[in-house]
Amino acid sequence: MISAIYPGSFDPITLGHVDVVERAITVFDELFVLVAENEQKQYMFTLEERLKFARETFQSIPHVHVDSFHGLLVEYMRAKKIRVCVRGLRVLSDFEYEMRMAITNKQLWSDYEVFYLISDIKYANFSSSLVREILHFRGHINDFVPNSVVHYLKKQQEEDDV
Ligand code: PNS
Repeated sequence: MISAIYPGSFDPITLGHVDVVERAITVFDELFVLVAENEQKQYMFTLEERLKFARETFQSIPHVHVDSFHGLLVEYMRAKKIRVCVRGLRVLSDFEYEMRMAITNKQLWSDYEVFYLISDIKYANFSSSLVREILHFRGHINDFVPNSVVHYLKKQQEEDDV
């Protein structure tokens, strides 16, 4: 049985992330989607909101679990005895960041391995930061994020309008 993790900020989760999860679970027996909490970072959505979006999105996919982590990723992996990390690669500019992170994680824990999935071309431009920018300017994000995010924001908007 090979388990893997798929870590990220997911601030918020996008359809690009969903595509990675749906493909990764066809390769691995079990996948933990790990929502990062890092007090050095300023998120648009709280950890609870980011977890809620991920849980609702993946609730119907067997063997996909959602959890959060704080601190070093390799410490979570070591504790859970999971050696494989999944990451999505969209465009060339992702590579430098990913490579630096992969080398660092390997130096921190020699058992660490990383598995990259090249983004489907449909999602090659998708990013959480793009979604946050669209939201900032009150644009429509429906084509970029799963329904859980759309419904949540719609409900929030309705409550604000009251
Ligand atoms: O979605 P992101 O923001 O690209 O995800 C980055 C993430 C959360 C996977 C990365 O920042 C991370 O693993 N943070 C935990 C801290 C850590 O382990 N740092 C050392 C590796 S560089």
